[in-house]
Amino acid sequence: MNPTPPIIPDLSSLRASGGVDEGRRRFMRNSAAALAFVSVPNPIVTINGDEEYEIVHKNVKLPRLPKELRGLRVVVVSDIHSGPFMDKAQMDRYVTRINKLKPDLVLLPGDFVSNRREEIEPLCDAFQKLEARHGVYGCTGNHDYFDDADHVVNELEHAGVRMLRDAHARIEIKGKELALIGVDDIGQGAEFHASFRRAVDGLDARLPNILLCHKPYHLEDAADYGAGLIVSGHTHGGQLVLARAFGLVFSIALLISKYVEGLYRVDATQMYVTRGIGASAINLRVNCPPEITVLTLV
Ligand SMILES: [Fe+2]
Repeated sequence: MNPTPPIIPDLSSLRASGGVDEGRRRFMRNSAAALAFVSVPNPIVTINGDEEYEIVHKNVKLPRLPKELRGLRVVVVSDIHSGPFMDKAQMDRYVTRINKLKPDLVLLPGDFVSNRREEIEPLCDAFQKLEARHGVYGCTGNHDYFDDADHVVNELEHAGVRMLRDAHARIEIKGKELALIGVDDIGQGAEFHASFRRAVDGLDARLPNILLCHKPYHLEDAADYGAGLIVSGHTHGGQLVLARAFGLVFSIALLISKYVEGLYRVDATQMYVTRGIGASAINLRVNCPPEITVLTLV
């Protein structure tokens, strides 16, 4: 199987305002400008703070979707990374932005915290205010395992996020069903095939399905199983992006995955890789704004 070239995301931006620490912004911009100066001969650099987030809208044709579920609005928010670079005030602003989109479903494919178990508490305080008509679902990411994944998951469950750990959920809407499948972050002692088989145990294969899988490494594997749509994060869209050309995002993320951002397809299986909203390692996004994704099922 050969993946078709990635579809470059059709970005429609929405600029928000207010609540920004100017000193921090100045520091970020100066640091980034210095970085760009040494790395690119003629830099065209955009430093992206949380006020420069983008809402990316995509229509996704989901196999076996009954007509009653057409138009379902699925909001995907990944790589929140609560911690030193993502505080409660920022997360409150994101929750307000998400709620304004009036989602039918919210999917959170991992990396809720940065490093420590207690970082989940401000996230839960903010995200328990999410409003999604048919629920909020999540799966773990690699950062959620850095300290205490069970604690992270328990707190999220108490905040109203249904965490799918090698498990599935069936959602009934207008008398029709949609399956959500979630696998624990692969690599934490878990292996994709075993996790996926456990997750779909007892699931009717005729139902339309969406798979939550933090790392975008398993498109070909999931296509073998007939998954409809995968939602992933992990790459942060590259986070520090030098350029986009030839369907590629030139950043360090290319070293870990050929799928960095946007919509990809193998056979009838599609995968959407979101840039996410947070940052790790360095509090900086260059040419890579935080992303809230709205997938409309068609
Ligand atoms: Fe992440």
